[in-house]
Amino acid sequence: MKKILQVCLALSVSLSVLGQNTYKIDIDATKTLVDIQPTMYGVFFEDINFAADGGLYAELIKNRSFEFEYPWMGWKHLPESETRFNIQNELTIYSNANVNPKNPKVVRVEKRDAQKDIGLQNEGFDGIGFKKDAKYDFSAFMRSNRGNITQEIQLLNESGKVIGSAVITQTPLNWSKVEAIVTCGETVQHGKVNVIFKGEGQIDIDLISLFPQDTWMGRKGGLRKDLVQLLADLKPGFVRFPGGCIVEGRTLAERYQWKKTVGKVENRELLINRWNKEFSHRQTPDYYQTFGLGFFEYFQMCEDIGATPVPILSCGLACQFNSSEMHPLEDLDPFVQDALDLVEFANGDINTKWGALRSEMGHPQPFNLKMIGVGNEQWGEEYFERYKVIAKALKNKYPEIRIISGTGPFAEGELFEQAEKALTILKPELVDEHYYKSPQWFRENAGRYDNYDRDRYKIFAGEYAAQSVETVSPDNKNNWECALSEAAFMTGLERNADVVYMSSYAPLFAHVNRWQWTPDLIWFDNLSSFGTANYLVQKLFSNNAGTKTISIKSAGANISGQEGIYGSASIDEKTSEVIVKLVNTGSIAKTIDLNIKGLAKKSIGKSIEISENDPGKFNTIEEPQKIKTKESLISLEKGKAMFSLEPYSFKVFRIKI
Ligand code: AHR
Repeated sequence: MKKILQVCLALSVSLSVLGQNTYKIDIDATKTLVDIQPTMYGVFFEDINFAADGGLYAELIKNRSFEFEYPWMGWKHLPESETRFNIQNELTIYSNANVNPKNPKVVRVEKRDAQKDIGLQNEGFDGIGFKKDAKYDFSAFMRSNRGNITQEIQLLNESGKVIGSAVITQTPLNWSKVEAIVTCGETVQHGKVNVIFKGEGQIDIDLISLFPQDTWMGRKGGLRKDLVQLLADLKPGFVRFPGGCIVEGRTLAERYQWKKTVGKVENRELLINRWNKEFSHRQTPDYYQTFGLGFFEYFQMCEDIGATPVPILSCGLACQFNSSEMHPLEDLDPFVQDALDLVEFANGDINTKWGALRSEMGHPQPFNLKMIGVGNEQWGEEYFERYKVIAKALKNKYPEIRIISGTGPFAEGELFEQAEKALTILKPELVDEHYYKSPQWFRENAGRYDNYDRDRYKIFAGEYAAQSVETVSPDNKNNWECALSEAAFMTGLERNADVVYMSSYAPLFAHVNRWQWTPDLIWFDNLSSFGTANYLVQKLFSNNAGTKTISIKSAGANISGQEGIYGSASIDEKTSEVIVKLVNTGSIAKTIDLNIKGLAKKSIGKSIEISENDPGKFNTIEEPQKIKTKESLISLEKGKAMFSLEPYSFKVFRIKI
């Protein structure tokens, strides 16, 4: 240890000799300024880019209930080689609406020839990822109408070889769930699943499902472990869900209705995903929402990772980039009721209607819901008058719930100014602002809240991401320039923590082959996932937020872009550390002359850094560690240190007081 310290000191001294290009920074750790909310850095989840089905929700079968618009989408009839496609009506779609109106279509298997096997093959979301020696839970709902049909479940590799199988010998007479465990013999990225029917007779089959057993917390039918782990590692203060525009819907019928996403999975009604055909350049016609990941699962995940749940609800106005369909203002009761019932579902006593459902689903304890957003990214009088009705009803019944209002899609301009005017009168507690802007905008707007009216509402920077080309361009990259510019901007959010209470990057997840929108914080394929440079920046901020800000200045001014340098500083009262964040967006190294008032004679700390010479570089699924963080030590004598802040770098220090 002594040796390392000597090296650090020697480095400091040699750099000080450089003299020129020195940037003096003064931090005062003797006085705290404002609180940093525990919700300051969170995440924003939306089912875009196959984030839920085909992503976080670990179901491997696509169109498991045959409820897609074309019921065979994702499925093939076997044997494939035969041209007599269904000539004998062996595999047909049958209406079971009288038994389950929410999930009416099932497959009828008519097996006339006991000598000849027939079957169904599922292609998964982008193929199916299997892992060698891993166990998979197969299940299906079935009933036998006649005869004796058995099923063989087969996992296939890319060349069609069977790499795991299980047999189900008993088909129940009445609709019931049948289960089997399949062990896989190979790791494959784009596998498939066969369900082969043998024997003679007639059965009906539905909700054909396959999950890895190795899910997050080992839950049956649960979430993908690696993806939740990446979220947990961020230690997010909150999770905003389920969107985004998905809340609003392209039409009101396609809006997100939380009540349809809770209760038994087999009773959750499928809905088209609004990103299905949104962009002509990235069409994904097989994108639907099964709601296997529904509001209960969102609340549960928030609890697992210690994040405050922040659900966003429809305000009765469909997406204004699409239909702008409006529900009559005089008749908003169903929307009001949805909001009130959500609080009961999350927090209510188990003897209430919705509290009882939560308990039945396995969570008698409340979920501790404290905030709700009304509407997403909407604008105009049409939005605010609807917001007002729902927010008022919520506040009347649940005054403790904090309500979030939107400001529309833009960070400035006419719509934004209109929103500001309306909100100054409405005085919501929190206001959700969105910035999808160039990296330059992020660098130039680090002071956005420096002169902000302190008596106004608090800010929730609910969606932001630097766009390397332009918003919705498919060529946008999660490159280092974007991530670094976001880091610069975030120092300004942190400096103004008395105004900015919450912030989240957007969107969160993207499948490398099935995305519609880029950039995104976390990318994944069927087997693995990685954090982008932007993820690393978010993680450094959220893991090192501190509890109170302290003053950090250069030549008496906020460090907000002079000579390309940005900075914020805080104290973590729980660990007694000073936390300093410094960003150099310039192309030349700076010698930093750091002075921290209030430190002991000698103090040491940890330095965590991302430094990258090529601002155009980005991580990929093949090379997920091109950009990464490095850790070292820093030592200070009487609170002073000299060190080099590399070009295009972001450094965080944690120094014991
Ligand atoms: O994050 C993607 C989309 O961007 C969100 O759904 C919407 O709120 C915004 O326009």
